[in-house]
Amino acid sequence: MIHHDHIVVLDFGSQYTQLIARRIREMGVYCEILPYWKSIDEITRRKPRGIILSGGPRSVYEPGAPLPDPKLLESNIPILGICYGMQALVQVMGGTVARASQKEFGPSTLEVKRRNPLFRGLRRRARVWMSHSDYVARLPKGWTVIARTETCPFAAAHDATGRIFGVQFHPEVSHTHSGTKVLRNFTVGICRAPTTWSMESFVSETIRWIREKVGEENVICALSGGVDSSVTAVLVSRAVGKKLTCVFVDNGLLRKNEDEAVRFLAKKARLKVRYIRAAGRFLSKLRGITNPEVKRQIIGREFIRVFEESMPRKSRPKFLAQGTLYPDVIESVSLRGPSATIKSHHNVGGLPRRMKLRLIEPLRELFKDEVREVGRLLGIPKAILGRHPFPGPGLAIRIIGEVTRSRLATLREVDWIVIDELTRAGLYEEIWQAFAVLLPVRSVGVMGDRRTYESVIAIRAVTSRDGMTADWARIPHNVLERIATRIVNTVGQVNRVVYDITSKPPGTIEWE
Ligand code: XMP
Repeated sequence: MIHHDHIVVLDFGSQYTQLIARRIREMGVYCEILPYWKSIDEITRRKPRGIILSGGPRSVYEPGAPLPDPKLLESNIPILGICYGMQALVQVMGGTVARASQKEFGPSTLEVKRRNPLFRGLRRRARVWMSHSDYVARLPKGWTVIARTETCPFAAAHDATGRIFGVQFHPEVSHTHSGTKVLRNFTVGICRAPTTWSMESFVSETIRWIREKVGEENVICALSGGVDSSVTAVLVSRAVGKKLTCVFVDNGLLRKNEDEAVRFLAKKARLKVRYIRAAGRFLSKLRGITNPEVKRQIIGREFIRVFEESMPRKSRPKFLAQGTLYPDVIESVSLRGPSATIKSHHNVGGLPRRMKLRLIEPLRELFKDEVREVGRLLGIPKAILGRHPFPGPGLAIRIIGEVTRSRLATLREVDWIVIDELTRAGLYEEIWQAFAVLLPVRSVGVMGDRRTYESVIAIRAVTSRDGMTADWARIPHNVLERIATRIVNTVGQVNRVVYDITSKPPGTIEWE
């Protein structure tokens, strides 16, 4: 679906780029992120009401630093540069950006010097969040300063036409008081973008769009019981009813009682589901394999085979519905980069070409929490919408070393305990993802005067907004203690539990 009348954020690599888009969508204005190098034609073809240049980690005066196309500045579209985005505008338009003698990271007081539509409704002094080592030392010709801070003489300014703005601070972060007001003044006030984007309108428009696209054909969907595939399946089923067949593959690498969640959803949302038991096939293919990438490839390939074999013969589907989300598709500088090649994420990506299926990805414009909101509007139970992400290759990439039936059984029990204790402690929802990893080492212990020599479990729990970056969760010690004690006391093959305190980066969330 191509949107008009929306806001385009050009990404220069800031960690806050997604946050800008989120803030604007929260105002009811659709917002899309594009990489900074998109051509002017591609940008203007979308007919945006306004363009925001994000922050970024580089210095605009470095050779090869990313800069906006000067033609963009000649279009009639209002532009707002944030932090690096402001510096890039200043650089391109003939001003000077230099290294600041005093870096500014954290809170600062903004002094508004001139009335301006961008700052409508703001007090003269506002607390803002800064994060920069460079600063604008001289404005381009014709520019006017609107605000300053103690160390930053041009904390906000605009060009001679009053259509191009720059702010050195970050209006998108919650620490900037009235930051949302500044973004609203720009998008709704200056750009006059309509505030008609809502989750309700998204749901009804998407259902209509799927119905038109699919016509009388059949659709197939791989249902895992996770949030994304569940919401996709229910949305598509609302559009095409019984023309949708869902396939649930039990690859033997799932958590305890995983298929119960799927059965529950299928009943509640009246989905037609084929349950395929394929544990034996996956496990025999994984025998003796310890390399993480090889495990991932085997599981991905086998999944495609099983899925292919399960296709209804008579009513052969023409479409494959997939729960791809926005962070998976944006060519964002901050989100792409090396991480795309660190792990080959397993999904049904190879299927469409091989089976001549056309893709339907109704969630590809949404962030994770927006998907949860769609799910809520569709009446999907909270127990499903609140679930932590679970990777396609399942427990196989949480068992370091060879995947065997007995190691799977051990990890399944331990995983259950971790989730159960976090839920009891009321922490499950605060945490992005929590799980256990079975290590390929044994350690010596003592239980009831007897020496033990058993496996070690690592607990991983992280907080995150999108899984791209993450921090280890500060779980209270008493909860960690309960988890460790219950694991060692009830799961026979484990005698030691350790807690992983690595953030991402430098670590990844999963161990393999
Ligand atoms: P990493 O380990 O790359 O994980 O920090 C980031 C997020 O992605 C999930 N993950 C996967 N999801 N197929 C998936 O569908 C995969 O192969 C896969 N590998 C990792 C991981 O659980 C975390 O939420």
